[in-house]
Amino acid sequence: MSVGEAKHRSDADKRKKVRTTDILSRKQGEKIVTVTAYDYSMAKLVDSAGVDVILVGDSLGNVVLGYPDTTRVTLDDMVHHTAAVVRASPKALVVADLPFLAAGVSTRDTIRNAGRLVREAGAEAVKLEGGLRVRDEIRALVDCQIPVMGHVGLTPQSVHAFGGFKVQGRTQEAADRVVRDAVAVQEGGAFSIVLEGIPAQLGERVTRELDIPTIGIGAGPACDGQVLVFHDMLHLFLDFTPKFAKVYADIGTATCDALVNYCEEVRTGRFPAAEHCY
Ligand code: KIV
Repeated sequence: MSVGEAKHRSDADKRKKVRTTDILSRKQGEKIVTVTAYDYSMAKLVDSAGVDVILVGDSLGNVVLGYPDTTRVTLDDMVHHTAAVVRASPKALVVADLPFLAAGVSTRDTIRNAGRLVREAGAEAVKLEGGLRVRDEIRALVDCQIPVMGHVGLTPQSVHAFGGFKVQGRTQEAADRVVRDAVAVQEGGAFSIVLEGIPAQLGERVTRELDIPTIGIGAGPACDGQVLVFHDMLHLFLDFTPKFAKVYADIGTATCDALVNYCEEVRTGRFPAAEHCY
């Protein structure tokens, strides 16, 4: 174990478990740090680094399953990956995405689907995309004691309706619509809301107008917290890095280099060496 790893672990052990109520109380306080994770090993790294919220995002459709967008992700996919993340995350709050059409169709189905993420997989909250359209479903989930994180702006499940992945809220009318949607999510009883793919000024306006914390991804620095996709921040997804993502370490290139080195050593007989033999 490296010194850095040992420090992360001991600091993480001292931290108390993060609850939805802790996140709610961080409005305009200490920034909320959120990262996605989709499996046990990834979640262990994220949890031990001291991240507040682990989001099992349906972005797993892009970065893990290789789909062009998130609309093909199923509820079974989400249950499977969320359960693995929960097994590795003693401290962070684990929030699981309701995938395409698992919410927004009927309240009864939304409750049943969210219930699977909580009961079968161990999620502590669910995230669902949409504003006014899903306000009553959010309220119904909260009434059933399932905490909800909202998500407005460039909601990826609406890619076909939006005509592509386009920044939202650029005109006055579109900005007002994003604000109206965010307010509806708050009225539904959500404990926090993701703002995705909107101008920084609008991110600031929504953050000012809401009482619940905003968590931004491509929504500027004024949000109460930030979220990044694990694969984007470590350059593990080689197809594309979005403008809003910062690469904190180029693990993708390091991994490719290591694999090329391994190929070379196996082919030239340098691996395995004496120390790798019984
Ligand atoms: O699916 C996901 O990872 C998300 C984040 C990008 C907010 O919804």
